[in-house]
Amino acid sequence: MLISLVSTPSWVRFVTARFTPTQLRYNRERMAFPTHRKRRLRVSESMRRLVRETQLEPADFVLPLFACPGEGVRKAISSMPGNFQLSVDELVKECEGAHALGIGGVILFGIPDTKDDQASENYDENGIVQRAVRAVKQALPNLLVMTDVCNCEYTSHGHCGKVIGEGANADVDNDSTLEWLADAALTHARAGADIVAPSDMMDGRVGAIRQKLDAHGFQKVAILAYAAKFASGFYGPFREAAESTPAFGDRRTYQMDPANGREAMHEMELDLEEGADMLMVKPAMPYLDLVRQARDRFPVPIGAYQVSGEFSMIMAAVERGWLDYERIMMESLTSIRRAGADFILTYFARDASRILG
Ligand code: PBG
Repeated sequence: MLISLVSTPSWVRFVTARFTPTQLRYNRERMAFPTHRKRRLRVSESMRRLVRETQLEPADFVLPLFACPGEGVRKAISSMPGNFQLSVDELVKECEGAHALGIGGVILFGIPDTKDDQASENYDENGIVQRAVRAVKQALPNLLVMTDVCNCEYTSHGHCGKVIGEGANADVDNDSTLEWLADAALTHARAGADIVAPSDMMDGRVGAIRQKLDAHGFQKVAILAYAAKFASGFYGPFREAAESTPAFGDRRTYQMDPANGREAMHEMELDLEEGADMLMVKPAMPYLDLVRQARDRFPVPIGAYQVSGEFSMIMAAVERGWLDYERIMMESLTSIRRAGADFILTYFARDASRILG
């Protein structure tokens, strides 16, 4: 020991006594201010653009649209400025505009003529969404069309599945609902949908849909699972838009508890096992931690749904002059991308794409 100490050159002893190997490589003291000034990389827009980590493109956005019966109908949704219930002819025009902007795709929701306790129009070949998909695909074969697969817009009681039991015992029955969902997905695929997106949160629905699609030759139709969908207060304006507020109770026995992040990862794992091609987190901004976890954990594309309440909240503040529309819109979308979303379902899709040019 003594010998080695003595034989070690003094400068080596001096340095190793003070610094760990890592510090030797990145000498913190010498690299700190004033050597380092982070503001150097922010001096101009050209510099900021060069070092920007997160980019947005119109192709990242999916625009939600609401199809309703009739012709020439453009019925404003009061809680969602700039959004409408659209008859099929008007919806096609909207899609033409979106396509011209280079938007990644559209997701269609339906407001049917009649609702019943069997959600009959949901899996009717001539249902509102099926007609809308056919019309859009005929006009714009290259526009990516997704459909939301759920029952709540089609049931008289507004729940996402078949209700069994009465009064306090009433509940949505999981397994018998799967058949409606698989049938609905099949009619959407037949109409030409590229992607079906189940949003009902029944257990086993991804597997049931995959099986049904494959059995009928639709191996190429992809499934985007609303894998981690929370029982959220942020869906309020959507329910006005889709006229799908539950007549009794709420969706907490099937949608997830907002407190649960680990459970969200398990939901995603199960949906992947059942054959989901892509996974989604919904809502987006209050659940960015889960978008990030999903991105780090799963190798498939991750979507995030910036839902109606997130949109309306921003719009309400913009209308009052409290927030700047374009800044907040782009900042909110950037934050969702930065958290790890590959694509974003958003009511800002048109305006954001316009800004991105
Ligand atoms: C259908 C569905 C809902 C949304 C998407 N699909 C409503 C709900 O679950 O109550 C919400 C979308 C939004 O708020 O923008 N189940």
